[in-house]
Amino acid sequence: MTLQAETIEDLRSRIHGHYERWAPRSAALAVKARRSFPGGDTRMSAHYAPHPLFIDSAEGARVRDVDGHEFVDFMNNFTSVILGHADPEVVRAVSRQAARGSAVGAATTSQLELAEILRSRIPSMEQLRFTASGSEATLMAIRCARASTGRRKIMKMEGGYHGSYELAEASLVPLPGLAGPANAPDVVPVDASHSPSLVDDVLVCPYNEPNAAAALIAQHASELAAVIVEPVLGSMGMVPATREFLQALRDETAKHGVVLILDEVVTLRLGVGGAQAVHGITPDLTALGKIIGGGLPIGAFGGREDLMHVFHPGERRPVMHSSTFSGNPLSMAAGAATMQRVDEALIDRLGTLGQRLRAGFDRAFERAGVRGRTTGVGSLTNLHLTDAPISNARDALQGMIGAGAVGGLLHLLMLERGVFGASRLMYCTSSPMAESEVDHAVSALEDSLAELVPTLKQVAPKLLR
Ligand SMILES: Cc1ncc(COP(=O)(O)O)c(C=O)c1O
Repeated sequence: MTLQAETIEDLRSRIHGHYERWAPRSAALAVKARRSFPGGDTRMSAHYAPHPLFIDSAEGARVRDVDGHEFVDFMNNFTSVILGHADPEVVRAVSRQAARGSAVGAATTSQLELAEILRSRIPSMEQLRFTASGSEATLMAIRCARASTGRRKIMKMEGGYHGSYELAEASLVPLPGLAGPANAPDVVPVDASHSPSLVDDVLVCPYNEPNAAAALIAQHASELAAVIVEPVLGSMGMVPATREFLQALRDETAKHGVVLILDEVVTLRLGVGGAQAVHGITPDLTALGKIIGGGLPIGAFGGREDLMHVFHPGERRPVMHSSTFSGNPLSMAAGAATMQRVDEALIDRLGTLGQRLRAGFDRAFERAGVRGRTTGVGSLTNLHLTDAPISNARDALQGMIGAGAVGGLLHLLMLERGVFGASRLMYCTSSPMAESEVDHAVSALEDSLAELVPTLKQVAPKLLR
């Protein structure tokens, strides 16, 4: 493809045009999809311009689109498919269960089996409940904290994402001009659906700032029910928390009787006992999701038995928790078949592959003379089109703003080279991958940058070193 473009707009229309010609069936389906779905997609996170590819099948580390292209899947349904797609043992477990019924409104032994696997891996989860998604898991953990403390406010991190509802999304994107001071950010509603009362319910803390976090907790302790935090800031660029930060949250919440909720929906893949085991931090409550469902919908939340007691049906006014597909046998079967295989050796191997990916990507940026860098830890990686340090959401957003449309275009160029990542340039490793898949992704970035650089000189020189 000749990319010689005079402006970013010109570059964008060349790359989009090429992509649509390269994937004509997806392009035609996207036209049809716009009739059924707003903007042609049923979920925001998987959408990107000019339109997403339609995936026809997935097996192991590969996905295939309707135009017959094959990709190495570094997205893994946003980190949830840790054993890759259609793993034979998971398929067997799910098929066996499907033949015996997919959902019953009753207790099943499969629920006990997965619960015991999770409790044995994560000792802080003395008791737990299953949900149908990670969003419900964090929501119920928050409700548990409110009910058990009798307090209302929730402190979350700027850039933190805990699911698809108001409290969980507040200040996900710290928009310049709205986000307030860096050490005591304002609450930013992400969209027009957010109630103005969010400002009364939420406190926003800068990520990786232990002193600011301790001060905010101490200042609001009497009305603060919970602090919720991801051990790696996921949606805003896979930025790992420092141990010092997590420890400050643990110490200060303990001092003031505030419930500490670790959102390990993504980070359970970083250690047999999740990031809490890696860091040696014991939360009061934990939210899980993604990998524990083995590719099927799931969530779980749990922690201290005295806190989880608020859900006890024998209580006079237990906290309501119901969800038609919570603990459904299909997700339980897939989850158990998966989690039994996610051991230390596998987690280490995925981490080594992740490290190789980050080193290769960093090298590619350097060789191409492009201001870019990786963040991440273990199997989780993100690319950023900036060489400035990134330790919180504002740093990551600054990189995105600086890159403008180029981030999305780089994602398309990587797709055309057979590398399927998230459009926000997130890549994660899965068990069917070997070094060759990782090296393929690195070559794809090298090629993509080589194609972009001559035009960047013209249209976005500040992205070059
Ligand atoms: C850290 C974190 N928490 C919660 C959620 C919500 O999970 P779900 O999409 O299953 O509702 C996500 C989803 O991406 C997440 O990344």
